[in-house]
Amino acid sequence: MDRRKFVQTTAAASGLLLVKPSTAFGYQANSAVRLGLLGCGNRGTSVATSFAENTSAHVVALADMFADQLAEGKKHFDEVNSKLGKAAIDEKLTFRGPHAYEQLVASKDVDLIQISTPPFFHVHHLEAAVAAGKHVYCEKPVGIDVAQTKQALEIAKRVKPTQSVDVGFQCRNAPPIAAIADKIRAGGLGKTALVMGFYNAPASLEKGNSSMSKDEYRLRNWLWDRALSGDILVEQNIHIIDLCNWILGSHPLKAIASGGRNVLTHFGDCWDNYQVDFTYPGDTHLSFASSQFGAYGVFQAGLSFFGSEGMATVPYAGPVQIVGEKPWAWQEEGAATAPVNGKFAANGAFEDNLKYADRDKERTFVESITSGKSHNEIASGVETARSCMLGRMAGLLRREVTWEEMLTHGESYSLGMKLEQFA
Ligand SMILES: NC(=O)c1ccc[n+]([C@@H]2O[C@H](COP(=O)([O-])OP(=O)(O)OC[C@H]3O[C@@H](n4cnc5c(N)ncnc54)[C@H](O)[C@@H]3O)[C@@H](O)[C@H]2O)c1
Repeated sequence: MDRRKFVQTTAAASGLLLVKPSTAFGYQANSAVRLGLLGCGNRGTSVATSFAENTSAHVVALADMFADQLAEGKKHFDEVNSKLGKAAIDEKLTFRGPHAYEQLVASKDVDLIQISTPPFFHVHHLEAAVAAGKHVYCEKPVGIDVAQTKQALEIAKRVKPTQSVDVGFQCRNAPPIAAIADKIRAGGLGKTALVMGFYNAPASLEKGNSSMSKDEYRLRNWLWDRALSGDILVEQNIHIIDLCNWILGSHPLKAIASGGRNVLTHFGDCWDNYQVDFTYPGDTHLSFASSQFGAYGVFQAGLSFFGSEGMATVPYAGPVQIVGEKPWAWQEEGAATAPVNGKFAANGAFEDNLKYADRDKERTFVESITSGKSHNEIASGVETARSCMLGRMAGLLRREVTWEEMLTHGESYSLGMKLEQFA
């Protein structure tokens, strides 16, 4: 008897009904996942292209606030789809303006919404996409203030078992980083007493020009604006704080911090440097420093874990290794043996140790959709976002802040503009 007949016979005998995968998972397991990109900028384009090239996802719909961004996205993805032998994007599935996200999530032709808008909008867009029953790939951070993270946790409760939601912490999926994280968590360093983290990036470049309205200029240069981005700690340095939380298996309990705007003079209120001392359970400290200014090509990010029995280096670029009682090193053709200064990639698609991070993240996520083994990463995304908010709050208040105080503080940011003007 072949396997199919055996399954049918035994299922009938046992009175079980065989359920088609499409019914079980609310999704046709063998068909392409139809992706709708919300926010056709740098990162959105890079991630959706990676989905198209590395998974069964087909980019079928686009949405953006601005016509030029939408047009560029359409041109790019029509080329990507053509190269892959897939259909071009139907004009009817391109949406522009402040209600574009609502039209996108309402589309019956889309299974997965990729949220790649500026951070201020993530939770609002997540709410709409989850309510529409879509799978969601949401960029970090999950919220720019505590109020938004509370809303996100409520949304997390409404995610159905058939829906999958991932958050854009692709560094966890980088093979060398995943491998050393396993070693550290398995006790490879003994007791971790100190972690040092750093994120030093060049200044972000101006978008648009002064002929734009003040609000449009601000929205296009959201990276310079604390309410829109969350500031550099919450928006960009978050990858390093996330890796620390993930590897230590907890969030910080308190923080003291300093920092400011020592170099940048352009429009905006984001700081250009932070120094934070985070205390984790067990009195483990993360001493973190970041900077974001200059145009001299320096980029470095990573962590060093100092334990009672060994020390581990976890950089974006450079050797991923443990020295001490249980030495180990990531072995791969081309693996770095000496410290390297990496190249900054504004779209997050770094080379070196993060080369396969996006590819593997996207594959794992699509697999969660097609297999029906759904993810719901909202709560862990919130935990990391809050960890960064803790450091930001300590810096802004110039004193120690505990996790509990942060949660009850009531800090919240408002958009300060009406999006209808872009209709
Ligand atoms: N995971 C990573 O490594 C990584 C790397 C870079 C950026 N990011 C994140 O990706 C997101 C996008 O960053 P980016 O560099 O692509 O920015 P970007 O400015 O290049 O693109 C943002 C796009 O969103 C559009 N937009 C703005 N507000 C909108 C709204 N309310 N509705 C619809 N569209 C809107 C803009 O017109 C623009 O096309 C950010 O959240 C950022 O933090 C993540």
